[in-house]
Amino acid sequence: MERIKCPVCGRMLHRENKSWFCPARHCYDVAKSGYVNLLPANAKKTKDPGDNPDMIASRARMMDCGYYKKLGEAVLAKLNDLPHAAVADIGCGEGYLTRIIKERYPESQCIGIDISKYAADAAARRCKDNLYIVASSAAIPLADKSVDVFINTFAPIELNELRRVLSPCGSLIKIVPAPDHLWQLKELLYEHPYKNPEVSFDPEGFLLVSREIVAQTFHAAGDEIEALLRMTPYYYKTSPDALAKILSLPEIETILSFNLSVYKPYEHP
Ligand SMILES: C[S@@+](CC[C@H](N)C(=O)[O-])C[C@H]1O[C@@H](n2cnc3c(N)ncnc32)[C@H](O)[C@@H]1O
Ligand SMILES: [Zn+2]
Repeated sequence: MERIKCPVCGRMLHRENKSWFCPARHCYDVAKSGYVNLLPANAKKTKDPGDNPDMIASRARMMDCGYYKKLGEAVLAKLNDLPHAAVADIGCGEGYLTRIIKERYPESQCIGIDISKYAADAAARRCKDNLYIVASSAAIPLADKSVDVFINTFAPIELNELRRVLSPCGSLIKIVPAPDHLWQLKELLYEHPYKNPEVSFDPEGFLLVSREIVAQTFHAAGDEIEALLRMTPYYYKTSPDALAKILSLPEIETILSFNLSVYKPYEHP
């Protein structure tokens, strides 16, 4: 099934060698790593939107240390119970979840979308079997009703776009931080740490099917501590003294705690 849309005229794209074309011959070249950039220049609010190379590299490092191991297993288990012929991860980052989904469900067409070209590039380098696209969650370049499962982890989404692209029997798997996510790390950083608020996400037009907490203990040692900090907002908000104190520790142990919700769209009568 053709799923990818031209961001200029909205018609379907098809691939010819190293480029994607629409019937009007708008052309999008595939980058060396394999991703395609479908983000129109006039849709960018900054020159290089999304996560920068440092943030992407830090996330990739943490994924290699097992940061999403338990979360990934939970996502794979959910997919097993859902139609999953076409899966799209919105704000896919360096691509860990899309990678393991393709490994477990090779028959699925798996698409990673991120507004950061560095994210799409890193993801495409590590998985040649998925399609990675630079695009915004506000204008998803996919056909109406063409996706069975949307995954969205710690990244923005636009509900109107999700409703448009999701198939009627499709699902949204939304992952947000649970109240005690990174709690021990926060205790090290702040005198008075606070817990994350309970999930307040209540997407209009969707029914909550299930919600669960997925938690694991995570260890970071040596320079992994800096990578862990760099993938959190705390790195950019914490005083240099507090950062230096933590970076000098030989090891830290913290809970990772994710709130995983599954939603289904419903049609208004
Ligand atoms: C915190 S990271 C999470 C990455 C990945 N989902 C994960 O859990 O490892 C947020 C990601 O969302 C991307 N992002 C931010 N705004 C976006 C938008 N409007 N559309 C698509 N992606 C966006 C960033 O570039 C970044 O890769
Ligand atoms: Zn076109």
